[in-house]
Amino acid sequence: MCGIVGILADYEVSPVILEALRRLEYRGYDSAGIATIHDGHLDRRRAVGKLRSLSDHLVHDPLPGRSGIGHTRWATHGKPSKINAHPHRAGPVAVVHNGIIENFAALRAELRARNYGPESETDTETIALLCQSFMDDGLDPQEAVARTLDRIEGAFALAFLFDGEDDLMIAARRGSPLAVAHAGGEAFVGSDAIALAPLTDRLIYLEEGDWAVLTRASCRIFDAMGTAVDRPETRIAETAGRVEKGGHRHWMAKEIHEQPAVLDICLNRYLGADAVTLPGDGIDFTDVRRVVMVACGTAYYACHVAKYWFEALARLPVEIDVASEFRYREPPLEEGTLAIFVSQSGETADTLAALRYCKAQARTLAVVNVETSSIAREADAAFPILAGAEIGVASTKAFTCQLAVLAAIALSAAAARRTLAPDATAEHVATLRKMPALLSQALQSEDRMEDIARTLSEARDILFLGRGAMFPMALEGALKLKEISYIHAEGYASGELKHGPIALVDESVPVIVFAPSDPLFGKTVSNMQEVMARGGRVVLVSDAKGLRSVDGAWAEIEVPAVPAIWAPLLYAVPAQLLAYYTAIAKGTDVDQPRNLAKSVTVE
Ligand code: M6R
Repeated sequence: MCGIVGILADYEVSPVILEALRRLEYRGYDSAGIATIHDGHLDRRRAVGKLRSLSDHLVHDPLPGRSGIGHTRWATHGKPSKINAHPHRAGPVAVVHNGIIENFAALRAELRARNYGPESETDTETIALLCQSFMDDGLDPQEAVARTLDRIEGAFALAFLFDGEDDLMIAARRGSPLAVAHAGGEAFVGSDAIALAPLTDRLIYLEEGDWAVLTRASCRIFDAMGTAVDRPETRIAETAGRVEKGGHRHWMAKEIHEQPAVLDICLNRYLGADAVTLPGDGIDFTDVRRVVMVACGTAYYACHVAKYWFEALARLPVEIDVASEFRYREPPLEEGTLAIFVSQSGETADTLAALRYCKAQARTLAVVNVETSSIAREADAAFPILAGAEIGVASTKAFTCQLAVLAAIALSAAAARRTLAPDATAEHVATLRKMPALLSQALQSEDRMEDIARTLSEARDILFLGRGAMFPMALEGALKLKEISYIHAEGYASGELKHGPIALVDESVPVIVFAPSDPLFGKTVSNMQEVMARGGRVVLVSDAKGLRSVDGAWAEIEVPAVPAIWAPLLYAVPAQLLAYYTAIAKGTDVDQPRNLAKSVTVE
C-alpha cells in the first residue's frame, strides 16, 4: 500500500526521496508525489502512474530543497489522478498518508462549513485542512498536529511539512507502520527499512499512537497521551535496501527460484538432526487444547494446509479463518487456545486486528517474515520464516517458508503431545530436510509449465482441484493465477465438483488437478474422469507413479514423489510457475499487478 519517505538533510532531497520511493514500489501504487521546502516555501510535484512519470516531471520542473516528504499512493478514496495524489496541501501544511481516515466525511462537512473546502476526493486532504484550521487559530505546527491527531479516526501513518519551517518534520503512526531515524544532522521518516536502509543503519519503529517531532538536531517522540517517550533503536541489516533481481526478469521469478535456498535456511533454523528446535523458549504444548489460525490471502492458505498437519500429526483441533471475518465475528476462545497469526509483512491490518482481539484471551504466536513488524512485536512470541525480502506482490517464497515453519510447529506439538513417537518424528524431519533439493527438482519442469501456460493464457476461466491438503493448494493456485494474469480462476475441493462447479466444465475451461499419488489419488482421478467425460481439458500435476496410472489428460506436469503429507511444499512450484508464465503470455505487470498492494495496511 502507500509508501512514505521524509528527509531533513543538508543536500538536495528530491532525487534521494525518489530513489527511496523506488524501493517502496513493491508495495503497489498508482501515483506519486514529493513536496519540499525551498527558500522557506512549500512546493510540490505529483504525477499519475509509475515513478517514471514523476521523475520526468522533475526533469522539466525541478523541485529544489533540503527538506522533503514523498509518497506512492494506492488509491482508496478517489481515483488515481494528479489532484488526488499526495502530498496534499492546505495553506502552510503538506501531508502524506498511508491508511484510511474513517471519520473524514464528518470532518470534511465540518471544515467546509468553516470555508476550508477540499480540492480532491481524498480522505487525506481532510488532515491537511484540519491542521491548517488549527494553525489559522494561532497554534504552532506541533500543537496543530497534536490537535489534528486527536480528531482523526482510523488507521494512518503520516508525515507533515510546514511552509516556512525548513527544519521541521512531524511523523505519526496509528494502525499503519512508520519508522523514524535521526543521526549526524539528518532526520528520516519511512514506511519500512527497505526504503531507508541506504540512508541510515538505525531505525526507531514508532509504536501504536506515537508521533515524532523531528529536526536536524533532535528527535522527540510522544505517545498517544502526548507524554514524551523513549523508543529503542533497531539496527537494520546493511543489506536491507540492497534488493536486486539477480538476473531474473521479474522479482516473482527470482523469488520462485530462491525457494530451495531460503527453505534450506528456514529448515536449518527449525530442525535439528532428528527433532524440531523451535526458537526461544519454543511453545509449551502441555496445556494447548485447540489451535486457532488466522491470516489473509496466501498466508491463510498456508494456515489451511497446516490445519491438516496439526490435526493428523498432533491430533489437535484447529480452526482457521480469514482475518477480516475472524475479527468481527467475536469468536469465543476457550482456555487452552493457542492463536497463530501468519503474515509475510506482519502489517496486514485485519490480521493485526485479529491478533489484538485474541491477546487478552489466548496465547498468541506470530509467524512472520518481517521480524520488526507490528504483528511480530505485539504477539506473545514471534517465529521468523527467514524468507528474506519478498518484493513481488504475489507471495511465493514466503508461502513455502510459512509452510516450513508451520510444519515444524505441528511436529513439535505432536512430539510434546506424544501423538508421534521419536522415530516417526525423526523420519518426518529427515523428509523435510530433503525438501529444498526436491524443490530444485520440481523447478526443472519450468519449460513444460511455460508451454502449458501459453494455452492457459487463452482461457477465460480456469478451475483448480485438489483433495486433502491439495485442496488449499488448489485455492492457492487459483489465487496466484488470478492476481497476476487477471484470468478468472477458482479452487475447489475435488469432491465438491459435482456439487456445482462441474456445470462450468466444457472444452474452453482448463481444469488443473493437483493429485500426488497418495491414498486419495484414486478419488481425485475419478473426479478428473468426470471432467474429461464432459470435454474438459485436464492438466494433471502429479508424481511419476500418478502420471503413469492415468490416461487422457490434456497435459501433465511431473513433481517429485514425496510422502503425501509434505507434498504441498512441492506443489507450490507448479501453482506459482503456471501463474507466472500465464501472466507473461498475457503481458501483464507480474510484479505489480493492477489494483493490488504488497502489504494491505487498511481494511
Ligand atoms: O503480508 P501478509 O502475508 O499478511 O499478506 C497477506 C495477503 O495480503 C497476501 O498473501 C496476498 O494474498 C498475496 N498477494 C498473495 O499472493
